[in-house]
Amino acid sequence: MFKSEVYIKRRDELRKILKTGLALFIGNSEAPMNYPDNTYHFRQDSDFLYFFGIDLAGFIGLMDFDSGKDRIFGNDFGIDDIIWVGPQPTVKELALRCGITETLPLPKLEGILKDAISKKRRVHFLPPYRGESKMTLGSLLKENPCQMKTLASVDLIKAVISMRSIKEKVEIDEIEKAVDIAYEMHVTAMKMCRPGVKEQEIFGVIEGIALAKGGGTSFPIVLSVNGQTLHNHAHGNILKKGKMMVTDAGAETHLHYASDITRTTPVGGKFSQQQKEIYEIVLKANTEAINATRPGFSNRDLHFMACKIIATEMKNLGLMKGDVDEAVAAGAHALFMPHGLGHLLGLDVHDMEALDENISGYNDEIKRSDQFGTAYLRFALPYKPGHVFTVEPGCYFIPELIEKWKAEGKFRDFINYSKIESYMSIGGIRIEDNVLITEKGHKVLGKLIPKTVKDVESVCSL
Ligand code: GLY
Ligand code: MN
Repeated sequence: MFKSEVYIKRRDELRKILKTGLALFIGNSEAPMNYPDNTYHFRQDSDFLYFFGIDLAGFIGLMDFDSGKDRIFGNDFGIDDIIWVGPQPTVKELALRCGITETLPLPKLEGILKDAISKKRRVHFLPPYRGESKMTLGSLLKENPCQMKTLASVDLIKAVISMRSIKEKVEIDEIEKAVDIAYEMHVTAMKMCRPGVKEQEIFGVIEGIALAKGGGTSFPIVLSVNGQTLHNHAHGNILKKGKMMVTDAGAETHLHYASDITRTTPVGGKFSQQQKEIYEIVLKANTEAINATRPGFSNRDLHFMACKIIATEMKNLGLMKGDVDEAVAAGAHALFMPHGLGHLLGLDVHDMEALDENISGYNDEIKRSDQFGTAYLRFALPYKPGHVFTVEPGCYFIPELIEKWKAEGKFRDFINYSKIESYMSIGGIRIEDNVLITEKGHKVLGKLIPKTVKDVESVCSL
């Protein structure tokens, strides 16, 4: 946990924004895998972590904005628990670590909320994303558990997003630590990327690094020679010369701050001429986009800047044609880059996606596009110092998408379908870094993970 002052300050800030009513924060419970005592890896809810820091299952926080009182509800372990899991801190001790002195057993919460509801006091809560939390909220607030997402407080969502969007120094330090763990993961993957090795072996080793050095991975690792499948979680291929391996992998620190890095490595460590051609395009989009980030510039502008670089260079190779600005405005580039340039990063790898992406990434003036490709851009707002986000352009040759568009005769004025055929073995390439907006510009977080052709080839040769 951070020092208690960090959590006290955050709750005071929230109090200043919301002023009245109560806010209920349901910490996550254990999630059984196949029977109750055999549980999935426990991951605390990120908003609960943000305001209370207690990284254990079965706690609820309640803030009363009228009285200024914050309370933690939880049950102390008895001897029956302790003989299995060892001595545990009391609820009181845990609450003190986040600056809260008042604690109560969980069963007391229902009566307190009943009283608040009978007095018509507003009880704010955030949208639950786990069945167990929906049931807990439904039962505490006497509502249909299936409705809890729609009944969530937009005022609380907006307040939390405004706070979590701007990272504090202690949070940035954590994200840098998470990138440094990702450095080890990616450099190891590059060195192992040799003919005859099974994807699963590399996957297992780098997942092990995330577990050995921090709190595990920040999302299920994407690692495949079929990088044209954007989130490829199958790791059954044996690496062969002539292919490239996309590794999209990040770690969490022990405090659960995430990194999210992608690198693309040629099997055997040397790019072919054709691989180099496409790799350099993606690298150009990545580096020029990063260099352009500064306060005031928006992530939507950055997205289009990267798309235009890709379209221009694809035109230079003869894969696209026509006017680049028109092609990008029409969405033709999305054949090769059908996703957004990046997303916010913090306690969640897609930060605050559980809250409302249209609030964390958009506002009343900047609305989400419904155009294929750009519709997946999760964050479009102008940058402010303290924003942390990913920059992850990619270029993919997705057979099913190419076949579909070709059959439909889509964007024939902008896409040279016959030339694409000779590039299909490329699969996919993505290059992703994690960037902080500073007062004057930006900083790429953590240790620089090799990404130029020369640097990747040189790591592979070690
Ligand atoms: N790293 C996975 C993603 O950004 O979707
Ligand atoms: Mn990402």
